Amino acid sequence: MHIENQKSLKKYNTFGIDVVAATFVSVTTVDELKVVLAKHSNKPLFLLGGGSNMLLTKAVESLVIHLDLKGITVVSESDANVRLKVMAGENWHEFVQYCIGKNYGGIENLSLIPGNTGTAPIQNIGAYGVELKDTFVSCEALHIKTQTHKTFSKAACNFGYRNSVFKNELKGEYIITSVTFQLTKKDHQLHTGYGAIQDKLASKNIKNPTIKDVSEAVIAIRQSKLPDPKELGNSGSFFKNPVVSAEEFQQFRTQNPEAPFYEVSPTQFKIPAGWLIENAGFKGKRFGDAGVHKNQALVLVNYGNATGEEIWELALKIQKKVKAQFGIFIEPEVNVI
Ligand code: EPU
Repeated sequence: MHIENQKSLKKYNTFGIDVVAATFVSVTTVDELKVVLAKHSNKPLFLLGGGSNMLLTKAVESLVIHLDLKGITVVSESDANVRLKVMAGENWHEFVQYCIGKNYGGIENLSLIPGNTGTAPIQNIGAYGVELKDTFVSCEALHIKTQTHKTFSKAACNFGYRNSVFKNELKGEYIITSVTFQLTKKDHQLHTGYGAIQDKLASKNIKNPTIKDVSEAVIAIRQSKLPDPKELGNSGSFFKNPVVSAEEFQQFRTQNPEAPFYEVSPTQFKIPAGWLIENAGFKGKRFGDAGVHKNQALVLVNYGNATGEEIWELALKIQKKVKAQFGIFIEPEVNVI
């Protein structure tokens, strides 16, 4: 473990933005992390996991701590279930594939989501009708200031749509070091209700899908719509789907009867930001090296040498046009730094 100076973060963020960290350290054990925190916790810190949910718009002056904690262990097991403790630095998709290989069910719909396991609870990652919280048991975290351990139960995490306590009350206070999941070993509860998954399975004539079939269907759908960060820099959905009141929704619906929507509750309606952005005319548009993906307007992309500022300028332009055209404010899902 050694501190590096003036290190480029280009390969540490999936947008592929080339900014420099003044100081950078990679930790591979919780003990190393404690040592670094004990020495530096009074300074501003910047915690880096998979770098998949951030847009870096300027050089990072804080000490960057790259969390490279690895390992998957079985905590307990019965005929029906298994509990796995997964260290924070394990790549999320590789963990999903590990589970598919062992026939552990519950997270197959979350295949191919970028990022690391330790950051997944922060925004309660979700896709195709499944969220991280559905299989989450608890997570271990280190309190930055005191370096004491704490276990957070599911209730304590206060999960919501792309949201948790770690984005709110406890923002910047804890570092998640491991996450424990409960998965099924048999009688898997499949979630194939999502239209695209059904279509994919039907096209392959699969009537009784396994978790591997579901994972493969999700991978195929994601690959057809979402760019691979290794080929085209991006951070998945750049914006959250806005949730509006019944009153705002009625007004929107009258003017845009063809728009898709989901009823969250009788008083709350979710409108797909991808639809708003596409209908504001941005889908597939490119401004220098910053662009809006051609197959999914919710994803902003870096064609090579875009700066974080250029991507952010594009995001602001989109936000403004969507507000002017539809009266709806869309807020970023990624952390803009
Ligand atoms: N749509 C458009 N134009 C677009 C994109 C979408 O009209 O360019 C419409 C679609 O036709 C559909 C609706 O918007 O009617 C919803 O689209 P989609 O099913 O692709 O899902 P999404 O709401 O855009 C969310 C997540 C994704 C997740 C998918 C699938 C958020 C912010 N995003 O996208 O998550 O993969 O559902 O479950 O909730 C991510 O967070 O990085 C991510 C990719």
